[in-house]
Amino acid sequence: MWRKLFSRNNKLNYTVNDANQLDPDNIPAHIAIIMDGNGRWAKKRGLPRTLGHRAGVEALRGIVKAATKIGVQILTVYAFSTENWKRPASEVDLLMQLFSEYLDNEIDELDNNGVQIRFIGKTDELAETLQKKMAEAEQRTGCNIGLILNIAVNYGGRAEVIRAVRDIAQQVLAKKMLIEEITEQSIKTHLYTCDLPDPDLVIRTSGDLRLSNFLLWQSAYSELWFTDSNWPDFRAEHLIQAIANYQLRERRFGGLKNPK
Ligand code: IPE
Ligand code: IPE
Ligand code: MG
Repeated sequence: MWRKLFSRNNKLNYTVNDANQLDPDNIPAHIAIIMDGNGRWAKKRGLPRTLGHRAGVEALRGIVKAATKIGVQILTVYAFSTENWKRPASEVDLLMQLFSEYLDNEIDELDNNGVQIRFIGKTDELAETLQKKMAEAEQRTGCNIGLILNIAVNYGGRAEVIRAVRDIAQQVLAKKMLIEEITEQSIKTHLYTCDLPDPDLVIRTSGDLRLSNFLLWQSAYSELWFTDSNWPDFRAEHLIQAIANYQLRERRFGGLKNPK
């Protein structure tokens, strides 16, 4: 028994840092990332949190490229939660400015690389100028057939479920839907990610072991991977390591691997 455990642990610690060593037939189609630790990254270096967030944007730039190269189809990144408004106004303002700058600076390259940008979350609560920029980016890249990049801004998993429940309740009240028609599938059609598969792999950087209200419905059977690296330090090698670890796992979805 211990031998078995030992070899399994060994296997889980096995790391690769070259995408060519990954099994091309088992690349997670949808990876979601909780990009955490910008503040800690800055603090460690005696820098203001602002610079941590700026470095975080750089990391995202690299990871979008790496994900495309590896063959990931959908990348969902958590950029700002419905709870992040609790932060000082100056930090919130800076983050909003960074989203805007990210779009200004990256849109051409993302578009040229076939990336389709989408935003998920309560974007209607953001500044109108930012909303406009987001809508333009979505429109411009809407027909691209490469990586789908979902950016979660003012996103909360609970808020998303509330929105779905309200939409469904309206339909029931209007007699357009029967109570019996409320199913996993019909709820899914009211989520921001209605046309996408659930994330296969959820990554959180910076060592905290929680979801912080990210994709609560969609992550029911996602594989989770945590790293102590702060988000600004997260590179293609880390992504490859996460995928390599994912490829060692057995996903059972509540069933059995070898039903007799
Ligand atoms: C993630 O980094 C960015 C956002 C949540 C917007 P943090 O700002 O949460 O960094 P830490 O967790 O304080 O280190
Ligand atoms: C989660 O990180 C949100 C984002 C990465 C955008 P937080 O830093 O907000 O999460 P908590 O507060 O540590 O749970
Ligand atoms: Mg944090």
